[in-house]
Amino acid sequence: MSGFRASDHVDWEFGTVDRRIFWEPEIYQLELERIFARTWLFVAHESQVEEVGSFVTTYMGEDSVIVARAADGAINVFLNSCPHRGNRVCFASSGQGRQFTCNYHGWAFGLDGNLKKMPKMGLYKSTPGFRMKDWGLRKARVASYKGLVFATFSEEAPSLDQWLGDFRWYLDAVLDPEDGGTEFLPGGATRSVMACNWKFPADNFVGDIYHALWTHLGGAEPTLGRHGGVIVDNNGSYQVSVNGHGWEFNDSFYGNAATMGDRELLRYMKSRQDAITARLGKFRADMWGSVASATIFPNFSFLPGYFTFRTFQPKGPLKTEIHAWTLVPKDMPDDIKDRFRRGSMRTFSPSGILEMDDGENWEFSTQANAGFVTRNQRLCYAMAPAGKLETQGLPGHVTAGQLSDANQRQFYRQWAVMMDAATWSDIPLDTPAVVQEAAE
Ligand code: FES
Ligand code: FE
Repeated sequence: MSGFRASDHVDWEFGTVDRRIFWEPEIYQLELERIFARTWLFVAHESQVEEVGSFVTTYMGEDSVIVARAADGAINVFLNSCPHRGNRVCFASSGQGRQFTCNYHGWAFGLDGNLKKMPKMGLYKSTPGFRMKDWGLRKARVASYKGLVFATFSEEAPSLDQWLGDFRWYLDAVLDPEDGGTEFLPGGATRSVMACNWKFPADNFVGDIYHALWTHLGGAEPTLGRHGGVIVDNNGSYQVSVNGHGWEFNDSFYGNAATMGDRELLRYMKSRQDAITARLGKFRADMWGSVASATIFPNFSFLPGYFTFRTFQPKGPLKTEIHAWTLVPKDMPDDIKDRFRRGSMRTFSPSGILEMDDGENWEFSTQANAGFVTRNQRLCYAMAPAGKLETQGLPGHVTAGQLSDANQRQFYRQWAVMMDAATWSDIPLDTPAVVQEAAE
């Protein structure tokens, strides 16, 4: 887009955002190039591809990809499009096999994405300059953090550890609360489609507890009684942001979980409180299940307490596909895992009462921009001054008080910086790659 500067469309100091970024096709195309084709994107949990030959398919931006465990134990991620005539190679969302064979002419690819064989192979081998190794499925860089697998098609991107930076220290609250690691509950993802721009759900999860006081009362009151027993205010609550990733939370330990209305589940969580506090310290133990939400930039979000983890996959500027799983510690008792499964389905699934509340808002926020005049009025992200960022000895940018647009301003700052940067060297990272030991 000639002359387009994303930073003209976001004021991250005062807090305004131009609505055109949620609507215009050219801006969306630039997002696919400058954000989705070059950041690290979540593609799978290791538990989904534990066995050799197991695979899942997903998206990186609008690029369909296969995530597969090869015979050498490595997890490979490669494009799900045959380099012969471009057909989709794998149509299943998950499975197990020894190779991927294209429907069209029968080219076959290994679990590492390399081209292994094709019908009438001799006719290619006699072509001067034809080399099998040039015609595999295009591979992405792959790296994991405590069970979460990420990939990027950028050779220049910093390491995943640098990209997550100090956010890893906070992620341990959900990824490392006990020995044994975590898993996605088996059974696959729920998938649903919303007529909204992908940034509305991502910015909601990065730091919008504000809406819960209003949007979710409609669902919480009839099912759980007034306010669902959950109090949200700026006491004992925080927002933290690193490289556009953000987490807002309070010190309630099981505030989110309380809204699932399952006393047995709360009893279990309470029984774990001392052990998790001893392992992670009180600050992060409180984050485990508190009234909280988070986004790893750009489109991977989760809700502690419900333990729903989801990607907001862009499908054009006006459409988003949500893939959601439930993450639990592997060693959790089976009946408690099942309670989390049912609890997160009741609340945050396509038919979940709280997710339906949210979806309607994001759809109308997007669709309103069909109006030319409407599209030209900026949106307000000015809640709580940007001013002083309090570090309090904690990693990343930490602001006290959950009711604030602080993380959302950081999210759109990251978005604008990446959209304007020609190369990765123009994208400064917020924090060093080393996780700091924070004062408890
Ligand atoms: Fe895949 Fe021809 S398009 S084998
Ligand atoms: Fe919500």
